Amino acid sequence: MELDDRVCYCFRVTRRKLINFTRQTQPSRPSQLSECFGAGTGCGWCIPFLMRIHAEVMDSDDRADGPDPLEISAEEYAQLRATYREQVTSGERQKNHHGDGCGDPEAGGTDGAGEIDDDAFA
Ligand code: FES
Repeated sequence: MELDDRVCYCFRVTRRKLINFTRQTQPSRPSQLSECFGAGTGCGWCIPFLMRIHAEVMDSDDRADGPDPLEISAEEYAQLRATYREQVTSGERQKNHHGDGCGDPEAGGTDGAGEIDDDAFA
């Protein structure tokens, strides 16, 4: 994904905005990226990617190691989100939550809104 591609589709937040926000505010917790135009507080799809951005910019833990989930094309990212949304809508999976399961796109969670729960990033 390029810097100007959207990471959070719900709130139209680009990768560049998230990286700049993280660099400028130095958030101690990944959940604080929700303060960047509400990123991650909609459908929940992007929460694992917000975690990754936080880890990479802050160099805060070993989540920055391994394959980068954002090193996929914007088209692939959009398709994965579309599939996620279909699965959530059909009840096949639960929405990534700002609590249980967020951070793991394969895990579900319960509906939630507002600030991201940092317990989900543990
Ligand atoms: S894509 Fe970020 S909350 Fe929906």
